[in-house]
Amino acid sequence: MSAPLSLSTRAHQTAVPAISYFMEQGVQNPNLISLAAGLVDPVSLPAEEVRAVVNELLAERTSTQAAMQYGTTQGYAPLRDKLHRHILTLDGLTPNDAAFGPDDIVVTTGSQQFLYMLGELLLDAGDIVITEAPSYFVYHGILTSLGIRTLSVPMDENGMQTDALAELLTRLERAGELPRVKLIYTVDYFQNPTGLTLSLSRRQLLLELAQRFSKTQRILILEDAAYRELRFAGDDIPSVKSFDRANEHVILAMTFSKPLAPGLKTGYGVLPRDLVGPLLRFKGNHDFGSSNFNQHVLDRLMASGAYAQHAEGLRAIYRAKRDTLLSALAEEFPPALSPLRWTRPDGGMYVWLTFPPEIEAGIDSRLFKAALREGMVYVPGEFCYVNSSPLPLGEGSGLRAMGRNEARLCYGVAAHDELREAMRRLGRAVREVLPMEKITVRNFAGCKA
Ligand SMILES: Cc1ncc(COP(=O)(O)O)c(C=O)c1O
Repeated sequence: MSAPLSLSTRAHQTAVPAISYFMEQGVQNPNLISLAAGLVDPVSLPAEEVRAVVNELLAERTSTQAAMQYGTTQGYAPLRDKLHRHILTLDGLTPNDAAFGPDDIVVTTGSQQFLYMLGELLLDAGDIVITEAPSYFVYHGILTSLGIRTLSVPMDENGMQTDALAELLTRLERAGELPRVKLIYTVDYFQNPTGLTLSLSRRQLLLELAQRFSKTQRILILEDAAYRELRFAGDDIPSVKSFDRANEHVILAMTFSKPLAPGLKTGYGVLPRDLVGPLLRFKGNHDFGSSNFNQHVLDRLMASGAYAQHAEGLRAIYRAKRDTLLSALAEEFPPALSPLRWTRPDGGMYVWLTFPPEIEAGIDSRLFKAALREGMVYVPGEFCYVNSSPLPLGEGSGLRAMGRNEARLCYGVAAHDELREAMRRLGRAVREVLPMEKITVRNFAGCKA
């Protein structure tokens, strides 16, 4: 018998990513309608646009060689120029107002690589990161793997509750733990998983809090704006980054995955200037540059206006899908009769369900199993709370206190008829575990969506 493998501490701290489990469910059962995986709408993927640009790129020797050769660690400079202008345009700013420039932008292999590298760059085991509760569970995976203490702040319809954040920071200060607080992580537009958006006034408060509590070291805000460009209702709100006039406190993470195509796996981040060099040293070790070819493709898509046009088209597509899902939910669970509650996102791809307390929705629950038997799958809310993930993590699995009667639905990938059918299946599953007449709206008091 061969000698046992000796894995790193970090490997032992790294759980099976929850998303792999949900992907497998779909592969194992082709009749299953998955509203679990956060995949984008497949029909609208930009095949024509990408084909045209790739043909153009490969038609000439110089452009072919430029795109097929290694690029730079930081990313293709013309693309970074366009990204700079793009972010300023989103925030209604001109280059004169800009607190950062193209050299403060790093192009990465998806925003996921950016999030991961920031973890390596900024965090030591035992450091504290504050997230929203609930929050993006793949990011929690990174934090767990790095041995980070993750604390969380509740949300309401205006996003992260900044009062609760202020209280938490005050408590940490009294306990002498403020020096360990490194990052506050927010998915501030149409959050994954709830679909909620951080309000304008809270954006300013969030930055003020980070500044006020930066006593022995800078507390950074990691603003993950992955879904920002998928707004289909209401007015846009400026980024937290746009209030960071000295480019000191806010790291902005963006991606082409949601507004264009995840297959290109290209993201980008804006960093305070003194973080750029250290990040590039890490990226040099990771891959010394993300796919140069993809960056040339993206540069041309941005230059021709095809990117902006595509994102515009997507907004209408996701709006229609949200409407289909919400009306199917309302049909299956009429608000006057049913205590099930859900969020109404103004963009992005997620709706958050809150069942009444007597309906457990976790991965071991009767409801989850009944839904699978009926042929639909959702993400149990417990995955989206720190320390609540039920998947095995080395020696011991986490606690499971939160999110037990909550669920995330993604309307990105399913077609309209599948969204309607998935809600009929969920309706049957709910009725199987608890007939509606047994649930009173009074029982539901205390839960809010
Ligand atoms: C909030 C959030 N951040 C980051 C990512 C990572 O996306 P990518 O690496 O494809 O840019 C995702 C993907 O679902 C996400 O939902």
